[in-house]
Amino acid sequence: MSNQAKNVETRNGANLAVVILAAGKGTRLKSKRPKVLHQIGGKPLLAHVIAAAARVVAPEHIYVVIGHQADRVRAALASTGVQFVEQTEQRGTGHAIQCARQAISGYESLLVLSGDVPLIRTGTIEQMSRFHEAQRAAMTILTAHPEDPAGYGRIVRRAAGSPEVDAIVEQKSLAPGQERIGEINSGIYAFLSAPLFAHLDQLTANNAHGELYLTDMAGILRAAGERVVAVEAENAAEVLGANTIAELVALDAAMRNTTARRLMDSGVTIFRPETCVIDAEVEVAPDTVIEPFVQLRGKTRVGGDCLIRSYTVIEDCTLGDAVEILPGCMLESSSVGDGARIGPFAHMRPGSEIGEKAHIGNFVETKKAKVGKGAKANHLTYLGDAEIGEGTNVGAGVITCNYDGANKYMTRIGKNVFVGSDSTLVAPITLEDGSYIGAGSCITKDVPAGALAVGRARQVTKEGWVTARRAKREAADRAK
Ligand code: UD1
Ligand code: CA
Repeated sequence: MSNQAKNVETRNGANLAVVILAAGKGTRLKSKRPKVLHQIGGKPLLAHVIAAAARVVAPEHIYVVIGHQADRVRAALASTGVQFVEQTEQRGTGHAIQCARQAISGYESLLVLSGDVPLIRTGTIEQMSRFHEAQRAAMTILTAHPEDPAGYGRIVRRAAGSPEVDAIVEQKSLAPGQERIGEINSGIYAFLSAPLFAHLDQLTANNAHGELYLTDMAGILRAAGERVVAVEAENAAEVLGANTIAELVALDAAMRNTTARRLMDSGVTIFRPETCVIDAEVEVAPDTVIEPFVQLRGKTRVGGDCLIRSYTVIEDCTLGDAVEILPGCMLESSSVGDGARIGPFAHMRPGSEIGEKAHIGNFVETKKAKVGKGAKANHLTYLGDAEIGEGTNVGAGVITCNYDGANKYMTRIGKNVFVGSDSTLVAPITLEDGSYIGAGSCITKDVPAGALAVGRARQVTKEGWVTARRAKREAADRAK
């Protein structure tokens, strides 16, 4: 991008980039997956940080430093439109900034975020940025007083109550007594580029990890006579990092708790919210009741006055108003119309569209099935690649045979059709409006409107057959 284009994006006269550090392996997670792709609230850690940053600057001014499994991280986040910078060897957070130097040298100011500090809110980033400008500092550190500061870098202020900082000391380098410092480094900073880049090469790997610590810039800039200040985040929970699975799970719980609170504040009842798994982007309208142990995932939208009973998992679905989902259902990428009733134990696979007031009952599976208004399939049925018209009744155990081993075919069922129980409908096939299928039929030919079709062997009844057979056996036994 040209410098001219960069200059268009200005803030208080100074142009600004956000750098997100995300190259590390996350050794403490003991996972094959890179740390920043581990999920909380249903989204990768890095996606949360990018979303917070994207409300401060446009994505083309966000530079994500990637390294460990860079291709995988890039592929997962490419759709966000951010820029990627590679740090091929992960030699520390300071080295990560050195690797990004060329890409970001044109900006006057930088905000540095950490890919593994996902609960950070845009408002807090902006507050730090404003403090940084007001203080005319070369470096501003966002700090916090968490319950347990162990593991974090500690802030050494010049004097109690002073905004100025002398140094950040990493956990492993703490001098006796310094472990009592309760103020920690969040790993989130604002920098003026000029002094940062003028002194960035002074970093040394002379420490416990043999890495170039970005945190050392506090002491280096201070020694060079630059102003280094700290500002405390209002809420320590926002800047907690995810370095271990236990920390990750705690952040996930915190984020889901926030989502549940948001929904409850807007009029949704969630019983035992701590047992529910609701992703950050889920929307639910007022007066809907969610029972314990429900999962609402992805981009799910639920209308008002719905009841979602326990043990149901709904992913990327749209539910209308007054929908009832009975216990134990699984719904994926589907839609359900107003007043429809699903379950218990129903499985709606992608592409199912259930109409208003329709009923999908127990042990019914649908896939790419469009079920009309008021239609019913109440028991033990498979509807795949099917259209079912308004008011049609699909009996127990009906199967659409949509697959011949190579291709899939459509079953079209018109309005007000009665499909008798235990029928198999061999697609491609059409049952026209008002037709009637006798129970136990195997239907292989289209059925015209208003017709009855019965496709089964005619029943044979032999009077006295059992009695006769028994008499014959008894006679044979006596003759032995
Ligand atoms: C860092 C800070 C610590 C602070 C804590 C807050 C340093 C030296 N320490 O420690 O003071 O309290 O964050 O959460 O910065 N990364 C790279 N390239 C690297 C190494 C790391 O991009 O070579 C990335 C990681 O992917 C991660 C972030 O930088 O997203 C922080 O690295 P991490 O190893 O987690 O640092 P902490 O030990 O948590
Ligand atoms: Ca970390």
